[in-house]
Formats: sequence, structure tokens, C-alpha cells
Amino acid sequence: MNMKRMMLAAGSAILLWSAVSFASPIYLDVNAPLEQRVEDALSRMTRDEKIAIIHAQSKFCSPGVKRLGIPDVWATDGPHGIRPEVMWDEWEQAGWTNDSCVAFPALTCLAATWNPSLSAEYGNAIGEEARFRKKNILLGPGVNIYRTPLNGRNFEYMGEDPYLASRMVVPYIKGVQKNGVATCVKHFALNNHEINRHTTNVIIDDRTLHELYLPAFKAAVQEGGTWTIMAAYNLYKDQHLCHNQYMLNDILKKDWGFDGVVVSDWGGTHNTGEAVRNGLDLEFGSWTDGLSNGASNAYDNYYLANPYKELIDSGEVGTEELNDKARRVLRMIFRTSMGGHSGFGSLCSEEHYDVARRIGDEGIVLLKNNEGVLPVELEFNPRILVVGENAIKMMTVGGGSSSLKVQRELSPLDGIRKAVGSNGEVIYCRGYVGDVTGEYNGVVTGQDLSDSRSEDELIAEAIEEAGKADAVIFVGGLNKSAGQDCEDSDREGLELPYAQNRLIEALSKANKNLVVVNISGNAVAMPWCEKVPAILQGWYLGSEAGNSLADVIFGKVNPSGKLPFTFPVKLTDVAAHSGGKNYLGKKRDNLDIWDAEYSDGIFVGYRHHDTHGVRPLFPFGHGLSYTTFKYGRPSLSSGIMTAEDKIEVKVPVTNTGKRAGAETVQLYISDVKSSLKRPKKELKGFEKIYIQPGETVVATFSIDKSALSFYDPQKKEWVAEPGKFEVLIGSSSADIRSKAQFELIKEM
Ligand code: GLC
Repeated sequence: MNMKRMMLAAGSAILLWSAVSFASPIYLDVNAPLEQRVEDALSRMTRDEKIAIIHAQSKFCSPGVKRLGIPDVWATDGPHGIRPEVMWDEWEQAGWTNDSCVAFPALTCLAATWNPSLSAEYGNAIGEEARFRKKNILLGPGVNIYRTPLNGRNFEYMGEDPYLASRMVVPYIKGVQKNGVATCVKHFALNNHEINRHTTNVIIDDRTLHELYLPAFKAAVQEGGTWTIMAAYNLYKDQHLCHNQYMLNDILKKDWGFDGVVVSDWGGTHNTGEAVRNGLDLEFGSWTDGLSNGASNAYDNYYLANPYKELIDSGEVGTEELNDKARRVLRMIFRTSMGGHSGFGSLCSEEHYDVARRIGDEGIVLLKNNEGVLPVELEFNPRILVVGENAIKMMTVGGGSSSLKVQRELSPLDGIRKAVGSNGEVIYCRGYVGDVTGEYNGVVTGQDLSDSRSEDELIAEAIEEAGKADAVIFVGGLNKSAGQDCEDSDREGLELPYAQNRLIEALSKANKNLVVVNISGNAVAMPWCEKVPAILQGWYLGSEAGNSLADVIFGKVNPSGKLPFTFPVKLTDVAAHSGGKNYLGKKRDNLDIWDAEYSDGIFVGYRHHDTHGVRPLFPFGHGLSYTTFKYGRPSLSSGIMTAEDKIEVKVPVTNTGKRAGAETVQLYISDVKSSLKRPKKELKGFEKIYIQPGETVVATFSIDKSALSFYDPQKKEWVAEPGKFEVLIGSSSADIRSKAQFELIKEM
């Protein structure tokens, strides 16, 4: 070969080399296919680097791979807003001055809107806040089923019905993740009360598991595409959920095809071998004080840290599981901080406050409104008395890991005062004293709620003022203190705490224009219900609480919320508490394990009340309006269907009142005859429609075999049995306006 050609060859070789060596590696190329990026990065990592990225290095941070330019991973609570920064290795506040947030309404309120598009806005807004705070994982939303009204964390979840929770969680996930932030749907699974949450072993039949407790998680994975899942503290089949073969490997990863990261709940990991083999991918919070189990950096002692290395070095386990875990973490990183295309987010924007307010507006439920006490009219310059601690108490601080440090929170009283303005006079009386604490996890409310007056004095003052008022608005309910709506605790009973019942009774005698606003994330007993003309379920409404409540109370907004769970008359009306059952189960002899048998099975909430004839105080799906709606007859596209078909259902609804309003038309299915006992009806469709006065809007539904199926534990699959079915169209689960029958026939 002559010199010239040799020079040419050498030159092109140098060009090629420089092109190859200076081109960024595939894993850094945000436009390269995800799986190629994952494999490329994995191939460059050492074993120790792989071990490092699958467990925490601080309270809320796990390492990336500095050598490869892969950043650390940051997780943050919670489902209702972005938690303030805590110290690297402490739960105490880091003392930042730029980590205040918008508190969005609690997820029970979101569920009560029955509005999936609002859920998408919720997810996008909170996702923008998480993105702005440079978080990879938002630790939420929660979708654990509301089995008992005592559960301290129900306010973080989406109610008693798996179909409603499924429809509402999917848009939230997509809204968050479009900002390049992973949701972490929690707590997977069967974490339905808080007492003994680390030691409860749930005993449940397969059918109930699949029909009631898994659907919302399955929708989150298969429709929402959540990038991470948080495994729960409790046990199932005697294995902790954080390393549970059946739930994590068999169901979540194999059956559902979950390709994301299983994150342990903080302190939920208990065993290295199980954690390696049974599906845990990212271990957080094993010693939540960060320093025990070896003052020198406890994080190296995590179950998926040095102990894992020792198992590999001993040959007891290979590296196949390690590679899978590392792949999943890398995949999440390349979907989030290294996704390269999700903007910078935003914090505390007026748009976010607007989203929070609208969710509150649409989530507040008008439970009762006799004699048109609501909306409170302002045209005659009324004297309005506001009574109750929850009218002034900050509710965004407390309740556990969902506690926040808000930029602002408008109280119900201040919202009412703002709405009334010069059109009336607003007087406030405390009425009762409940929880006067004003601090959680180092965040202080700055409120001094102390009040040395006696119960009698407080009630006497309220009654005297009530006698002089044109309208009385009582704002009470529960709060975020332990034993109320609070993580790691449950309530002891259904009753309102403090002297609220006595006070409400007295107010009902002192003024007939009484409105009771219940602020809570759970049902409460209302022994005074018949004596109170107007009742609102107010929820934890977050930063815009006062505006949302005032919007509804004074009629700026026509309420359209519907209950996402049943209000029972008394606790023993609840299936989990009936017949003397103890929902906590039984403690195993000389073991700190509580076996909680879910013997209520699929009959939870309205499924129990309807099927077993237990009349609720307010039924699932109930919610009134300031207008009225007339339901027309439903029309079905066919009277018969095969398993491959769909039937379309149309329901005309007319607004027969004087003002615009929204109605959530609910479609329930009843299986006329089935080989297994089924609930009398099950929610299988809903549509929220907005109707002008005099207008008729047609709600449309599509029914396929999934709406007819039950889970057959023998066949281990969903089965739709041929036969007659009924479509029940309702304004609530107990207010069925019309019915229609059709038949499922075998394939032609
Ligand atoms: C808590 C909660 C979980 C939360 C986590 C981090 O114990 O169970 O929901 O996200 O720890 O605070």
C-alpha cells in the first residue's frame, strides 16, 4: 500500500476514534432508546456501584453514580404537596427558607370530585412543584381501600371503591410524570389501618384481594404507568410486603408487567435474603433515625448494602437480582432527572393555587340542605356567626408524612370573612377546644390556640351569639393530631371528638339556620343529623380551604362533590366492625404479629350496606346540588352482548333548577344470577356532566365484559358468566333513578 493510502487510512482511523471516543456514551443521550441507555450504563457499573444505587444514603436520597455523571436520586413526600427539606440524616427541618409549597386538597377530596380531568391537573401542578424542587420521586398518591372509618390515613387515599380509585389515580400519575417526576403509588398493599402497621399480617381470600384491594394499584401500573411503587409495612402470607414474593414478583412484576422500582416504605425492610429475592429494588429508611445499627453510617448496614455484598461474596446469591434492581433504578433515573425534557417546574404559582381551589370547590359534598339554608344569602347584610376550632386551625401541619410547610393557608373563617366583605357582619366563637398543638416535625403553625375557658363557658358564649345571628356556620370535625386523621394511629371510635356533639345540639336549638361543616378525611357519627338543616363534608382542603368553603357556602360555586366512601350511622354498621369483630385482628402468641383476617371479604362500604340491608347515614356516591336534576330513561345499544362486544348506555339528564350545576351520573352493574355471591351492585362507570338550567345533557357509558366480571379464585382469572345483568343508573349508590336489563350470551 503506498504512503499516501497509508496516511489516508491512518487519518480516517484517527477521525473515527475521535468521533467514537468523544461522542457521548449512549446512556447520556436523552434521545437514545431507554433500554439501550439502561444497558449501556449498567455495563459500565461496578458491582459496588450497583449495590450503592439500590439503597438510601440519607433520609430521602439514594446515590447515583458520580463516576458516570449519574446524579443522586431524591424522593419527597407527599401526596398533597412537596414536603419541606429535612436534615441529611435527621427528621428535623433543614431550615430552608425557599421550600414552602402549595398544599393541595387531600386525596379524599380529589376522589370526591369524581372528575378525572381535575385529577390530571392536580398531578401536573404537584408534579411541577416536585420538579422545581429537583425531586425524582413523589411519594404518593395513596390508593389503599377505605375499609374502616377509623384508619388514620384514609384522608390520603381515594375511598372505598376500587373502580373510582382506579379512574382517579391514573390521571394523577400521568400529570405528575409528564414533569419528569416519578409517582410512587402507595402503600402496596393491604395497608388499611395504622395501628400495628408494621406487624399486621393480613389474611384475605384471593377473590377479595383481586376484586377490592388490588385494582387501583393495577390501574396505576398498567394504565397510569407509574414509575415506582411503594411497598407497605404490613405482612401478607407472613412475609413483609417490602419483600413479598407473591405480591411483588408474581403479581406486580410478572402478571402486571411492572418495569419500575419497588421502593420500601421507610423502615419496611427486615431481611436481606428476602429483599434480594422477593422484589425489593430500593431500600429507604431502614433505621429511620439514620444512626442506629452502627453510629458510623448506618446506610452501609442497610439490608441491601454490605449484607447483600456478603451474600454475593459467599456465593449464596448471584448477581442476577442485583442487575435487575439496578436496571430498574437506572430506568427511573433516565425517566426523571436524566430524562432531559421536562422543564423546570414551578413553585407556589397562582395557577397552582387556582387548581387547589377548584379541586376544593368540586370536592366539597353537600350532604343535606333542607329549607334552602344554603347558599347563605348576602343581600340583606346578614350577621353571620362562625363557630368551631376547625374554622381557624391550620390543617396543613400534622397528620404524619403528608404534613407540609405552606406558603399560605386561608382558614375557613378568613375565607368566609373575605367572601362576606362589607355585605354583612361575621362574628367568631371558638365553641370548643380540641387540639391546641401547632407544630409537626419542626414546622410550626405560629397559631396560639390555647383557651382556658371551660366547655360550658365556650358553649354558652356560642349559644348567646347564635341567638343574635341570621345564620350560624359551625366548622368542626377531626384534625391531624394523633388519634384523629393521622399516620401511625387510628381513631378509637366514629364519634366527633371534644364537645362538638353537645355544641351542635345546642346550636341547633339556638338558630334554625345552622350549617355544619365537617372537616375530616373520614366518616363521623352525626347523632344530631336530623336537627341540622344543612351539612357540608368539607375535607382537608389545603392552602385554599377558606376560599373553596366560602365559594360553596355563599353560592359562588354550586357544589358537585359526591362521597367516595359511606357514612355509616354507627361503627358496628361497618362490615369490618360488625358482629363484635376487632378490625385489628388477633395477636399471635408470644410474637409481635397481629393476624388481621379480612372476613368482611368483598362486602366493604356500599357493597356491604346495600347487600346486607344496612342503611347508611349518607351513602357512597351521595352529594346534593343547589339545583335539581331529572334523569331520563337509559337507552342501551343492545339487549344482548357477547364477551367480545360492548354495550353503549345513554342517559339523558335535565337540569330542572334555576342555576347551572354538575351531576355525576353513576352506573352500577348488578349480576342477576351468579355462581358466587356478588354485591348487590358494583360501580362500573361514572360521568360528571355540567348542565345549564333547562338543558338536557346525555351521559354515555360503554360496558364490556370487564364490567360484568368477578374474580374466580379457582380459575385464578376474571370471569363474566353468561346471564342477565342489570344496569342501575344512580345519583348515588342508594339513589337509583332508573334500571335496564341486558343479557350476556355465550359466543355465537
Ligand atoms: C412513612 C409513610 C410513607 C412515607 C414515608 C416517608 O412512614 O408510611 O407514606 O412516604 O414514610 O416519609
